[in-house]
Amino acid sequence: MRTLIVSPGPLCGRTPVPADKSMTHRALLFGAIAEGVSRLRNPLNGGDCLASWAAVQMLGVEVEEPVSGVWLVHGRGLDGLQEPSAVIDCNNSGTTVRLLAGLLAGQSFHTVLTGSEQLRKRPMGRVVTPLRQMGADIAGREEGRLLPLSVRGSQLNSIDYEMPVASAQVKSCLLLAGLYTDGLTVLHEPGPARDHSERMLKAMGAPITQLGSTMTVERPQGPLHPLDITIPGDFSSAAFLLAAAACIPGSQVTVQRLGVNPTRRGFLDVLIRMGADVTMDQWDESGGEPIGDLHMQPTTLQATTVAGNEVVTLIDELPLLAVVATQAQGVTEVRDAAELRLKETDRIATTVAELRKLGAHIEERDDGFEVEGPTVLQGAHVDSHGDHRLAMALAIAGLMAEGATAISHTDCIADSFPGFERTLAKLGARLDE
Ligand code: S3P
Repeated sequence: MRTLIVSPGPLCGRTPVPADKSMTHRALLFGAIAEGVSRLRNPLNGGDCLASWAAVQMLGVEVEEPVSGVWLVHGRGLDGLQEPSAVIDCNNSGTTVRLLAGLLAGQSFHTVLTGSEQLRKRPMGRVVTPLRQMGADIAGREEGRLLPLSVRGSQLNSIDYEMPVASAQVKSCLLLAGLYTDGLTVLHEPGPARDHSERMLKAMGAPITQLGSTMTVERPQGPLHPLDITIPGDFSSAAFLLAAAACIPGSQVTVQRLGVNPTRRGFLDVLIRMGADVTMDQWDESGGEPIGDLHMQPTTLQATTVAGNEVVTLIDELPLLAVVATQAQGVTEVRDAAELRLKETDRIATTVAELRKLGAHIEERDDGFEVEGPTVLQGAHVDSHGDHRLAMALAIAGLMAEGATAISHTDCIADSFPGFERTLAKLGARLDE
């Protein structure tokens, strides 16, 4: 168990951040069913994505790293995957298991999926229910609501499905299953969940259409083309550095070559609404996604409300928003975010409990929280609960607090941001382990 000790201070400098986690998962899983070799430059070498790497290898797909930072995925085509000889362990990765469930439901073999103790508590009914409507043969604990899941590949039929939650994992799962049906699958999403799957699969030649919140997918006429992409920096990782720079006097941070897909950068839009001093330049495109350099420096921030459709565009950044809200003037409210309770931890409960230890004025709501600021946080001993995003949000709170903040259980940071501590230190943070 690692403990990170953070002393207060600003962040200054220019840095890239590790590659986008969501895109790396997708490139591995989609590359596995392309015809030929996909080339992934700058993939994320983090715990969650390594679970996807191991999973595709168990399905008979060779993945290699001939030079550091380049992964080659030897795709076997839509119908070339092989039955794994053992249970696939998705570790902590919800994206791996939910996307795999969709990919495997229409195969001609049997797979068993499981995960860590943490993942085995997370809801799988959201993918199992629609997959069963497509004719999938899936069994699991508590009638398929929890892992392990047994997925017996079968012929799938297309469905017209109204997704009850705005979830990119559910959407991507059903898009993958839709590639294996005979008819046209129609999906309606209640909010703008991240659209990396649509972009990447379309670039590979998959017949996916999109009109507003409705998508269609069907079986491709020919093979899927392999990918040749450079994966941009992960906005969700950069958010920690940007939040520190927005709040801590004396900071000045530039994050380079960052993915700024509109379905991912809700946190930036919220910071701008709060008055943040941010500029973006070096616009470009990478892997079919917009990228840019973001420069942030501190200003006085005003409280805001995040609710409704906006929530999904910053779902992973909401614990961090709670930290920022402790420094803003007024009461910041987060509503319609009950999904937060179903992440790596119940992120409403864990965020509220840990920020209170630092002296934050934060109240729990069923579907979010309220934070009153500004508050001078006081360093204390806090716990990540094994949740990578909470661990990093608490480290940023530690940079803002008076005195030292000790965060226990920080090994999980490597699930999404390997080298987080090194990056902070490079930007001038004083850390001890
Ligand atoms: C992800 C989607 C989101 C997000 C998760 C990664 C993805 O989850 O919270 O960190 O890669 O598709 P949901 O789709 O469950 O909202």
